[in-house]
Amino acid sequence: MNSFDFLIVGGGVIGLSIARELHKRGGRNIGVLERGHVGKEASWAAAGMLSPDIEADLGSEFHRFCRRSLEMYPALAEELKGETGIEIELDRSGTFCLSFDDDDSLREIYARQIEDGVRVDLVSSSDISKAEPSISQSVCEGLFYQSNWQVENRKLLQALRTYCELNGIRIFESMPIESLMIESGKVSGVETADSRIGAENVVIATGAWTSLIKIAGSTFPVDIKPVRGQMIAFKPEMRLIRSVVHSSQGYLVPKRDGRILVGATSEDVGFDKVVTTEAVERLYSTAVKMVPALDGAEIVDSWSGLRPCTEDKLPVIGEFPGYKNLTVATGHYRNGILLAPLTAVVIADNLIDNVSFRYAFAPSRFLGETTAASV
Ligand code: GLY
Repeated sequence: MNSFDFLIVGGGVIGLSIARELHKRGGRNIGVLERGHVGKEASWAAAGMLSPDIEADLGSEFHRFCRRSLEMYPALAEELKGETGIEIELDRSGTFCLSFDDDDSLREIYARQIEDGVRVDLVSSSDISKAEPSISQSVCEGLFYQSNWQVENRKLLQALRTYCELNGIRIFESMPIESLMIESGKVSGVETADSRIGAENVVIATGAWTSLIKIAGSTFPVDIKPVRGQMIAFKPEMRLIRSVVHSSQGYLVPKRDGRILVGATSEDVGFDKVVTTEAVERLYSTAVKMVPALDGAEIVDSWSGLRPCTEDKLPVIGEFPGYKNLTVATGHYRNGILLAPLTAVVIADNLIDNVSFRYAFAPSRFLGETTAASV
């Protein structure tokens, strides 16, 4: 039986980032177990937006956590380049949030965010046209966030995987785990359909699949629901936009290779990853409404991913009560790429340096009076 000092279950951006961070802090004998292919689920399907002020407006502690993680990206990009030679294409052009309807919703957001100390500018339609001439003339006004960025998430995953491969972190693919093995109140490892893997410490980073894991004969008591996001991509001959552009209908994300990604649906359909004609048509018309020059452009790709969503839409990060050597880092919902650097650091702080988690996103909030040992 293989046995690891640190076994990370889940090979998405969260699991790989944790593996790298543990290794950088001196952790050794690290394994990553992935049910399918490493980095090919939600983290691969993402658009790579790093938008704490737009997508993570769910309360101040969470917002601060998101901002701290964002601020780690410039150093992370440099480090990964040095460690792996892979450029993760961190783009700091900024993000627009535009209104195409004459309502006050953006002004209300602006007033609240200014009061909360968010760095945001209220911009007129002529400011928008100057900055992004391809945006529809029907735009009314917008908000501009200079410090909401984007990254090429697929390159990030490639870099993280490469880091693991170069540094002796063992990756196992096509190995869904079924349950956690418990001995004397400790997690002693995991069971797959046909094997057992021992571990001193287990980190659950299984995203939308977390609730399928069994612990002490019961369903894992952190309820995570998959929320499907469908996306399409264009690759116009000319570069039509420079910044990430949001509206109430969806978002456009221009990539360095010339693609413009358009996202995304938000659907409660279980683990079904099919791409539907209806969604493709809706995303297409959203894109054309925002950038009319895309009318008639070829859709070069379409795909979907499953966001891991908890009941309160906040992640679940921290020690699992009742089992000292079980840690959870999952449920990152719309913010997995954004939150990967800081999630990795707080997990490594705990596992390597014994620093307690002090965030409100702990698993205990879902366990109520039930102690983990009794589930
Ligand atoms: N973070 C983008 C999305 O969830 O669609």
